[in-house]
Order: sequence, then structure tokens, then C-alpha cells
Amino acid sequence: MNAPNESEVRSFMQYGHFDDARKEYVITTPNTPLPWINYLGSEDFFGMISNTGGGYAFYRDAKLQRLLRYRYNSVPADVGGRFYYIKERGKTAWNPAFLPTRTPLDAYECRHGLGYTTFLSEKDGLAAELTLFVPIGETCELHDLTLTNRGTLEKRVQIYGCMEWCLWNAVDDAQNYQRNLNIAESEVEPSTIYHVTEYRERRNHYAYYGVNAETSGFDTDRNTFLGHMGDWSAPRAVAEETSYASHITGWYPIACHRLDVTLAPGESVRACFVLGYGENPKDAKWDADGRVRKDTARRVLAKFADSAAVDAARAELAAYWDRLLSSYRLVSPNEKLNRMANIWHQYQCMVTFNMSRSASYYETGTGRGMGFRDSCQDLFGFVHMVPERARERIIDIASIQFADGSTYHQYQPLTKRGNADIGSGFNDDPLWLVAAAVCYIKETGDFAVLEHPTPFNNKPGSEAPLLEHLRRSVGYIRSHLGPHGLPLIGRADWNDCLNLNCFSETSGESFQTSGPSEGPVAESVFIAAMYVKYAAEYAELLEQVGYEAESVSVRLSVQEMERAVLKHGWDGAWFRRAYDAFGDPVGSKECDEGRIFIEPQGFCVMAGIGVETGEAKKALDSTREHLLGEYGVELLVPCYTRYRKELGEISSYPPGFKENGSVFCHNNPWIVCAEAVIGRGNEAFDVYKRICPAYLEDKSDVHETEPYCYSQTVTGRASGNPGHAKNSWLTGTASWSFVSLSQAILGVKPDYDGLRVEPCLPDELDEYTVERRFRGCLYRIHVKKTGEQSLTVDGKRADRIPLQDRETVTVEVTV
Ligand code: BGC
Ligand code: NOJ
Repeated sequence: MNAPNESEVRSFMQYGHFDDARKEYVITTPNTPLPWINYLGSEDFFGMISNTGGGYAFYRDAKLQRLLRYRYNSVPADVGGRFYYIKERGKTAWNPAFLPTRTPLDAYECRHGLGYTTFLSEKDGLAAELTLFVPIGETCELHDLTLTNRGTLEKRVQIYGCMEWCLWNAVDDAQNYQRNLNIAESEVEPSTIYHVTEYRERRNHYAYYGVNAETSGFDTDRNTFLGHMGDWSAPRAVAEETSYASHITGWYPIACHRLDVTLAPGESVRACFVLGYGENPKDAKWDADGRVRKDTARRVLAKFADSAAVDAARAELAAYWDRLLSSYRLVSPNEKLNRMANIWHQYQCMVTFNMSRSASYYETGTGRGMGFRDSCQDLFGFVHMVPERARERIIDIASIQFADGSTYHQYQPLTKRGNADIGSGFNDDPLWLVAAAVCYIKETGDFAVLEHPTPFNNKPGSEAPLLEHLRRSVGYIRSHLGPHGLPLIGRADWNDCLNLNCFSETSGESFQTSGPSEGPVAESVFIAAMYVKYAAEYAELLEQVGYEAESVSVRLSVQEMERAVLKHGWDGAWFRRAYDAFGDPVGSKECDEGRIFIEPQGFCVMAGIGVETGEAKKALDSTREHLLGEYGVELLVPCYTRYRKELGEISSYPPGFKENGSVFCHNNPWIVCAEAVIGRGNEAFDVYKRICPAYLEDKSDVHETEPYCYSQTVTGRASGNPGHAKNSWLTGTASWSFVSLSQAILGVKPDYDGLRVEPCLPDELDEYTVERRFRGCLYRIHVKKTGEQSLTVDGKRADRIPLQDRETVTVEVTV
């Protein structure tokens, strides 16, 4: 075989392309290296959908209120979804999304856009267009399907729309068969199937699947529909071009509608399927005939009976996203940067706002909920888009804090209560609350939030002003110091896998919840750096609200902490990572493995430590020298090659994976921000680009995850197989990389009294404009590299952009 020429290699490497005008990523083959997914929903009803139609939907909580069943670790991959089968009489059945039949298509395109996904496919002269989205204000998905006869002869076609119900609690659904195989119930009405399992007892909610067209058949029993030993790739009903009107009694409930249509050449048929969630007051669950009350479903189905309403909902969704994205817009000669800044950075930030770390193709939705530190950091990326919701989020998070300032690590989205299964004692957590609150107030000027009565551990009667929560956060760290005057690490700090007090020897035990939650010796240089940064921000906030004396005392403690870091946290050429429970350094030249870690290099410099005395620059030089690989900055080197119980989970991973020396993307933007602190624009931009999706599109074959969002981790050099990404979508990388671009590189930073503009530019970027909506005013900030520093607001020189009461303001900046 001849070697392929370059253009062949390129087309082989390409799975799609960005369509910036439509704000979409267009996937042109179902054979992506992994399922490439998108999120539907922005309020209470959410869905995930892959480029082959897999995924599931849930109402508010992916564990407790799951509508669709999904099979993890399944073979074939990606089983569970909303399945549309097209069957022309006598021909092969196919799916517009390719799965589950896998019938080769004559044309295929999957367009993942903002809150919707569209499939455009063709087979044997039939063209399908299928768009799925969650309409604003409703708790349902719309699946808008148009089928067109592109052939020259009349076609008789059957359309099957189907899905498999999950019995609400996704964990119980996957394990409690002895009960669950007996409880499934549904009700069928013309064109609508209701899933009402457990409604007879303590549930007052149901799911429904309807269609705004006359149906010719239905099924609700999976075994009947698929046939004995059948599977979704070839349902018996579809093969036989029929339906069996099966009524589920226990076993596996599904919902399937069949539409029979006859299409003349050129003719189209359009049908909108609705997958929804309905809820009734507990004391008004039943209608007069003793059947499930269906007011919600009937209202929603009536609303979308008319396709004009479906079109209007699409338009409303587009307007919703335009509004969100209009708060920040970059106009530059760099197409990739514009694409990231104006679309994908902000989109992924909204997804992390909605999901935290709960539901993705790597987070099952059954384990983790809303992370304390995760949501606090996510807020940096969404606060400018949804300030009111950011405020609510801060209060929800602060409400799971304990009275001593420590906190639960996560909460369940449905109940908003701290999740005891995940535990507490992660000593970085409290300071992230300070970071989030400061960020929110700088964005909005809403100092009143500091007075909001906020409970501790959700206990009624324990409410104290939010400011008191921040005070206790800072106080907790100040009063939990170890032998070197550095903060005690507790169960772990940002690095969940640095478990210095756990000493686990029992297989399967959780590193985050077993063993003592805190030892008196193990300390974290990382938390020390956080303290220097965020306690200083707290002190500044105190000045803003008139607590001078407290501010002075906090500032003194910050200086003390900075001294402790320079004395005990400096290793000679970089910052140390920690001290273990024996008082031995972690991340030091004295160690045989794990000699240098990324986290303290980024955070100490971001906190300003060693900037004047030279340690900062040395630390970042060492970072580049030791940790920088083609795909980004690795977490540590050399990776741990054996399990070390005194270090915990970090040494449980094979070298080059996850916390043991992969490129753990979340902390790469810290290096970008740190480089900007010492004014190195080229180095900052270099690191930014190495993990940036828009710059990695050509490497999709290696990278494998979606080229339009960040992943949590990319295998490091020590893995022997570097560059493979995993855990796409739900990662703190989303917010931090947006911050690193918009604030550290492009330099537009919200502050209490206006916007500061402090760019740190690489050689390749000379000029750009940022349109930034801030406290009701649209600022057009034009930045140009001239070698001279200046800033003028509507022609007047200033050192920052003061708050304006006009609608638009023009700012000229030279650097
Ligand atoms: C993962 C971490 C994660 C932690 C807590 C560990 O297994 O490696 O990245 O934060 O679990 O869920
Ligand atoms: C993922 C977790 O969600 C995050 O909170 C943590 O900081 C990183 N893993 C690093 O361990």
C-alpha cells in the first residue's frame, strides 16, 4: 500500500469542522473516536446527546429524577438514547443519528449548537432533519423531525420514535432488579405514552412521550418491541414493519410511537415528538376517573401541536444564547481565539454551571453532585452571563458550610443538602467561597449579598450574613496551621488525590472519606498560596465595606503566610507542594519521585509570591523545563511508579494518568495567569494554546474527545502514550481557561470601581477589541500594541475604566 499523501491524511484526521457563523460544531462522520456529545437544557430539564443519538434526560437531578436509561461501559458503546428509526417498505431500517442500526448512510451530519443538536442524514432518497432541544421555560425536550422524499417515486415509510424509561432513581434502577422488574407501569393515550412507575405510591411526577401527529401504532414493552433476545440495532417490530400495542406490566418499560406516512416525490412530513416531565401537587395527584392527572403534559403537548410554536421555541432559545454571549465578545484577527472567546469558552462555562461535576459521559450522574470548590471556581466563568443565578449559587454553596468554617464537599442538586457520602475536610474548600464571593461582587457591585442570611449546614435558625461565612472560611485556615505555619491539608486540597492523612491499605476504600480527616502535621503549600491570594482579596473586600481593623489583621496574617511559603515552601528552583504526615517535603528535589508539581508554581505566582524577589520567575522557568509537554503542562514529574500509602490516591494511578502526572488541564490556566503576572505574554499564550480545543482540532485522532470543549485530563509523557484526553466537559478548566484568556491575556478585569485593562500579549497578537457588558454599560475596548502604555475613556486619559452611567462607552488602550 502506498503511503497516503498529505491531504488524504488531513481528511482522515478530520471528523468535522467549526461553523462559527452558526455557532456550531459540525461532525461529518458518526465514526468519531469517542461519542462527541452536547448538552440540552438550561433550567430544570436537561439532556445529553451524542453525535450518534445516545444519551439520556433528567429533571434537575441526574441521579434521583432520571427519565431515560443509559448503559455505562456498554458494548456496543453508547447504548441508551432517543432512537428514531426510518423504515421504507421493504428496505433497510436506518437512523438519522446512525445508531443503533449502524446502517451506512448516504449522507450524515451532526450539528452541535448552543443548547440543541441537529442531525441531517440521507438514505435511499429519503432525507431526515432531526433537531433536539429543550424549550426555554418548559420541562421537556422537543425532537423536531422532518422527512423528505428526495426520490422520483412515491415512498411508503414508517417512522418509529422510541426510548427506554429509567425507573427514576438511576442507582436503584441499575441494581434493585428483584423489585424493579415488577413495578413498571404506563398509560397510553392516542399519540402519548405516560411513564407512571411508582406514581401509585409516593411519587407525584410522571414522564411522557408524545407526538403532534396521528400515530399508527405503539409499544410500551421492551421485550415485545425488540423481540426475544433482540436488541436496539434490529427491533423485531421495525423489521416486521408493525407495532404490537404492548402494554407493559413490570419488566422493561419503553415508549414507542409508529407513524406511517406516504410521501410523493419532493414531499415532506414534519412531526414533533415531546419527551417531558410533569408534576402534580401531592394532594391532587389523581383525576376524577382515578387516573394520573396530566395537566402539564396536556398543556405542553397542546402548545407544541403546531409547528409554528416549535419554530418560535427554537428562536427563543437562539435569542437566549445570544443574550448570554453578548456580555463578552472578542473581535480580533485570530479566528481561533474569537471562536473560543465568543462561543465555546462561554458555552462550556454554562454547562459546568448547570452540571457541576454530576452528569457527563464520564460522570455517571449517580455519584457526584454539585462540588463546593468546583462550583465556586465555575462561577468565575458564568458570573457575567447569569449574575442573579450566580448569587443564588453562592448562597446554596455557603449553606452547606459548617459553623466552624469547614464544609461539606458537595451537595445534591435536588435537595441542596450537603452530601455526607462524599464527606468534608478538604481544607482548600473554604477559601474558594471567598474567591467566588469576591468575583461576584466585583462583577455586579452587589455588596448587599454580604448581608444575605445564610444558614450553616442548612440548619434553620443558624442563619448568619454571608460575610460571616467568608470570615469563618478565612478563620478556619488561619486556625488550622501545621508545624511550618502552613495550612493543614485535611483530606486533600485542590488535588483530591493528595491524601496525606489517609494511609489506606484496604482495597476499594475511598481515599477521600476513609482514615482521619485531618492530621496535625501534613501541610499544603497550595492552600498557603490560596490564602495569600484570597485572604488578601477578603481583606480588600473588608476595606470596601468599612471593616478596617479586621482588614489590617487579615493582611498581617497574609504577610506571615507569604513569609512561611518563602521560607518553607521554596525548594531552590520551584515551590514545594506539601509536607506529608511525617513532616517530609512533597514536590521537592529531595524526593525520588514527584519532585516538582504544577499547582504551587501557578498559584504561588498568581498570589504574587516571589514576584519581586525572583522566585516566581524561577518557578515558572522550572515549570517549562520539567513539566511542559506537547499537550500541556503535566501535573508532576517524575510520576510515582509505586503505591505510597503516605501520599494516597495520587500514587494509585499508573504514571502519566490523572493526578499522577497527566496534563490535568484545570491547572494549566493557572500557569497562563502566572506567566501574565510576571509579564511573559509569549509563554502565557503558548500554554493557553497547548490545551485549547480550537488549536487541537487537527489532533483529534490522538486527543479523541470533543474538539469543541476542554477535557479534564490528557495522558502525560510517562504514560508512554501521551495526548489522549478523557473526561470531557465537566472540568474546572472551562472557567479557568476563559479567565486566563479574557483576563490574564486580553486583560479586561472587573473590579469594585470599574474595569481594569492590563493585557499581557504574545508577539502574535497586536490588536483587538473586547466588547464587555459590565454593570449595565457596554464597553468597547480597543487595544493596540504600540510600545506605550495609555488608556483613554471617550477621549479622556485614565488609569482604569471608571463606572459609567451611559449605555455604551469607547475605550482606547495602548500597550
Ligand atoms: C479522581 C479525582 C476526583 C476524585 C473525587 C478521584 O478518583 O482522580 O479527579 O476529584 O476522585 O471524586
Ligand atoms: C476533579 C474534581 O472535581 C476537582 O474538584 C479536583 O480539584 C480535581 N479533580 C483534582 O483532583
